[in-house]
Amino acid sequence: MIISIVGYKGGVGKTTTAIHLAGYLQTKVPTLLVDSDKNRSALVWNREEKLPFKTVAIAAAGKWLGQYQNSVFDTAARPSPDELQDLADASDLLLLPTPPKGLDLDALIKMIDLLKETKAKFKILFTQVPPRSSAIKDARRTLEELKLPMFKTEIPKLVAFEKAPLAGVLIKDYPNRYSDRGWKAYQAVGREILKDI
Ligand SMILES: Nc1ncnc2c1ncn2[C@@H]1O[C@H](COP(=O)(O)OP(=O)(O)OP(=O)(O)O)[C@@H](O)[C@H]1O
Ligand SMILES: [Mg+2]
Repeated sequence: MIISIVGYKGGVGKTTTAIHLAGYLQTKVPTLLVDSDKNRSALVWNREEKLPFKTVAIAAAGKWLGQYQNSVFDTAARPSPDELQDLADASDLLLLPTPPKGLDLDALIKMIDLLKETKAKFKILFTQVPPRSSAIKDARRTLEELKLPMFKTEIPKLVAFEKAPLAGVLIKDYPNRYSDRGWKAYQAVGREILKDI
């Protein structure tokens, strides 16, 4: 299974999602994380190889892909229509992370218009959801009206998610009282994917 994490805007949680989803899938079967962003954020996160899965750059992916049952692709923001088509052709699922904010949703909906032409299977994940947010209800309603597929699970906004990359670990291995909450959310996303595919 190949899952690509895609988003038109920067900073929506693509790399955080790619890392934690790979971390979850690796608990089931061997999983490869492919970093296809020139910023190499996922590779930098795993620079000390403390993450429980192998991470490679896109240029090296050909050598490794055949050896892994699952792979997760972290991608760069602002894919061109051609790049979107390539990702759609290569992936079993495109996962689209978005914070539940107006401008982020606007960019997401525009990208989905392009995505629909690719016939890709895609699903939206709400990330960086603040506590007691009414924005999330509005965001769900907006996307429901457009009949767009969404994960039931939401990823909470937690400081531990911001700290984990510097420590080079998954949130579950970052000592913080809310780390468990963040990890449970990504585990639930992983379960939703496995149930679906
Ligand atoms: N659930 C969360 N709670 C709090 N902070 C988060 C959460 N998810 C991501 N972040 C933080 O938001 C910033 C952007 O996240 P991330 O790097 O995952 O986004 P991205 O979409 O990959 O960005 P880019 O387009 O630059 O590659 C980072 O500082 C990250 O630590
Ligand atoms: Mg990124």
